Amino acid sequence: MRIIAIANQKGGCGKTTTAINLSACLAKLKQKVLLIDIDPQGHSSLGFNVSPSDFQTSIYDLLCPEDGKNIPTRKTILPISEHLDLIPSEVILSAVEQKLAGKEGREYRLQTALSDLHNAYDYVIIDCPPNIGLLTFNAFLAASEAIIPIDISYFALHGLGKLLETAHIINKKCNHSLIINALVTNYDKRLKLSEEILGEVKRHFQDNFFKTCIRTNVKLKEAIGFGKPITEYYTYCSGYRDYTALCDEVMEGKYLNQKAQLEDQKPYAPRQVKGGVLFSYYSSDALSVYLTGNFNNWAADAEPLFNISGNGLWQKVVPLPPGKHQYKFVVDGDWHLDPANPNSSSGKLGNNSVFENK
Ligand SMILES: Nc1ncnc2c1ncn2[C@@H]1O[C@H](COP(=O)(O)OP(=O)(O)OP(=O)(O)O)[C@@H](O)[C@H]1O
Ligand SMILES: [Mg+2]
Repeated sequence: MRIIAIANQKGGCGKTTTAINLSACLAKLKQKVLLIDIDPQGHSSLGFNVSPSDFQTSIYDLLCPEDGKNIPTRKTILPISEHLDLIPSEVILSAVEQKLAGKEGREYRLQTALSDLHNAYDYVIIDCPPNIGLLTFNAFLAASEAIIPIDISYFALHGLGKLLETAHIINKKCNHSLIINALVTNYDKRLKLSEEILGEVKRHFQDNFFKTCIRTNVKLKEAIGFGKPITEYYTYCSGYRDYTALCDEVMEGKYLNQKAQLEDQKPYAPRQVKGGVLFSYYSSDALSVYLTGNFNNWAADAEPLFNISGNGLWQKVVPLPPGKHQYKFVVDGDWHLDPANPNSSSGKLGNNSVFENK
């Protein structure tokens, strides 16, 4: 059972559209799919024409059972089509944070509920709300993979560091392993911004992004309005083609192997790669790693590195002009030389690592 959370605290970036259409495409290929709506807005439920009058129990009852008595997970499942089921959501879910305040194991409720399914599904897709609270924590702890939709917009990458940091904290503190992959949505190749954001996503996520970009397509919007996935609404459009391609990529599970590949990697001194210079730092217990240097005026928080696979390898590609650059890593607030780089020289702030970009 592959459990995939679709998350990003940025609103309107395509989480629900991806959850609905990826689920429908997988089901069309006869994969047994359970879609879980864990957003109090209930958009994934509405996207299948399911409204609160259609069900008695929802994800709320799994996370917050009345009198503390767990109910069987299957009691909350609604069949949607032959291969697709749904656990719906309703607005009362927004009270979960208060209801479970201080309760032990509150972050593990969804994980426990899913273990009750005994691998009955090939895929479980979780549509998260647009914030990083208890609901997203539950999704991340239940899942082994996360898809982060990133829409082409000016604030697309804002807050991404926080989301990745949260995933890392979960991996570290809860001994969990969540593989994260970015998905570019609302892509329009006529816009210059599209290439800019795509370049940024590649820089941030290295290999951990889907080759498929979801293009802007009005049919996707219309389909949700009609309470249908694109597979049932209209199949002669880019929206259908893109979600089918994404589904193929997910099923190939290519990116599942990337973690294993990355685990073999050791941190190395900065090296030139496509798009800039790749910096890497190894720490399995750091909560944040930043790169500071003469190229960003030694600002301590200008260039966050990302530990995308949760394996302790923090990396980032930074575009740098040719020349000699001095730098240090800021690890949980402490400044460190690059242990993988033997070259250093003294500067204003003491000894610094040095890299020459040719
Ligand atoms: N590729 C696309 N082309 C055109 N419209 C899209 C596309 N993806 C999403 N939309 C539209 O953008 C709006 C927001 O999408 P969606 O609801 O999937 O985002 P979300 O991240 O789930 O939002 P929220 O954060 O509120 O949960 C919707 O009206 C949806 O129909
Ligand atoms: Mg949504």
